[in-house]
Amino acid sequence: MSAKIISGTETAKAIREELKVDVAALKKKHNLVPGLVTILVGENPASQSYVAAKNKTAHNLGIYSEQVTLPADTSEEDLLALVAQHNNDPKIHGILVQLPLPKHINEAKVLYAIDPGKDVDGFHPVNVGKMMLGEQCFLPCTPHGVLELLLRSGVETSGAEVVVVGRSNIVGKPVANLMLQKREGGNATVTLCHTRTRDMDFHTRRADILVVAAGVANMIKADQVKEGVVVIDVGVNRIGMSESGKAILAGDVEFDSVKEKAAAITPVPGGVGPMTITMLMKNTVQAARQSAGLE
Ligand code: GUN
Repeated sequence: MSAKIISGTETAKAIREELKVDVAALKKKHNLVPGLVTILVGENPASQSYVAAKNKTAHNLGIYSEQVTLPADTSEEDLLALVAQHNNDPKIHGILVQLPLPKHINEAKVLYAIDPGKDVDGFHPVNVGKMMLGEQCFLPCTPHGVLELLLRSGVETSGAEVVVVGRSNIVGKPVANLMLQKREGGNATVTLCHTRTRDMDFHTRRADILVVAAGVANMIKADQVKEGVVVIDVGVNRIGMSESGKAILAGDVEFDSVKEKAAAITPVPGGVGPMTITMLMKNTVQAARQSAGLE
């Protein structure tokens, strides 16, 4: 058996078409243009390419976007002042500070300074807390993308054994939390594995749905999954450079062998990545609607 390939590229495209319609309607009916600012500190190449992709996608959907790029030695104070300035800018509905930040800046302090109503990354503790409680909030983009991908691919999560590998605040913890919520896309029995898990293979082999966000290239092999599993690979690992200077990417799952056993699997690239950016756009539109009292 060879797995069905769950294309994030195709699913993201469909959601973007829906968003384009929403953005055009907001402009026409309410003269409202959603606005996003991305803030990048330093010159991390992966971050540069993510931020460029976010701004390009915003532009293509008719979302106003500003890209602020600051030198690596920017002070925490200056960054906090920039966040405050955008908190007070009515054109801007969403603020995204690209992570990781340089070591001399306290990441939590910066994220906590973002107005929770403009926190389109869903990283502010107010939004994290609301997510945990199952209340309406900004959901973090990658976990939300994973959920949407499962939903739109017709994968039943209710009652499923879901195993998540990786306990980061950005992916592992929120994915686990969202998949156990009592609502569509949730209702799963969730196990969260991490670097101290005693017998990882025991857990991964039980999974009906395996979500891997460990940040280790090709970590999960075919002998660690069961026949018929649905695999969502969140890993984006740069494993080399092509002759033309493009990064060569690999997921956390050994795609070629695992796809022979899985019922469905996401590729890297073209899996979760495009969904992350798309959910950021969805959150930005939601932020604009909320700011205008439309929801
Ligand atoms: N770095 C890696 N993923 C993300 C993300 O989703 N948002 C931000 N702001 N930084 C990231």
